[in-house]
Amino acid sequence: MTECSDWHVLADRMRRCVACSELAASRQHVVVGEAPPSARLMFVGEAPGASEDEQGRPFVGKAGQVLDAALVAAGLSRDEVAVANVLKCRPPGNRRPLPAEIGNCRGWLTAQLDLVRPALVVPLGLTSIAWFLGPSKLLLREVRGRVHDVDGLRVLPTYHPSGALRYGPNGEPMRALRADIALAASLAT
Ligand code: URA
Repeated sequence: MTECSDWHVLADRMRRCVACSELAASRQHVVVGEAPPSARLMFVGEAPGASEDEQGRPFVGKAGQVLDAALVAAGLSRDEVAVANVLKCRPPGNRRPLPAEIGNCRGWLTAQLDLVRPALVVPLGLTSIAWFLGPSKLLLREVRGRVHDVDGLRVLPTYHPSGALRYGPNGEPMRALRADIALAASLAT
């Protein structure tokens, strides 16, 4: 995938980040994310898992397969969309990101959004949704599937692919995830 040079400059800085000492010590890769220059849609997950940490790419494990399948069903491919995470480093044992870690990493995602300037952002799961909408008592089923205006940024929250997987391939969260990604594709392309 070709990304704009500013993205590469930013990525190089991210790879040297040691703001979270525990994560910096345990990571194999800083998973910067991916953004083709023409991307109009940007997906934002929570944090890299084991496969992502190993390969240095976002959403390449089981959750990534679910995301890819939903993209294809919506007429899109991974090469056309930007993908990033709230945290760029894997929390040990895949624990939830700590508030301090989310704070330390905040500037990186903000800079990525400024560079990509997506027409629509799709936060995947509650950690990412809270990053965009604020951490008030959010119920995923109440905020998903519709566009929220966040200081001029259009945000369409949906389930995290791993969360949807827990309810099975025919569960309601998977159906909602697929429907929301299809809606995102129709709004942003
Ligand atoms: N889960 C995420 O939130 N992000 C990834 O990159 C992989 C799994």
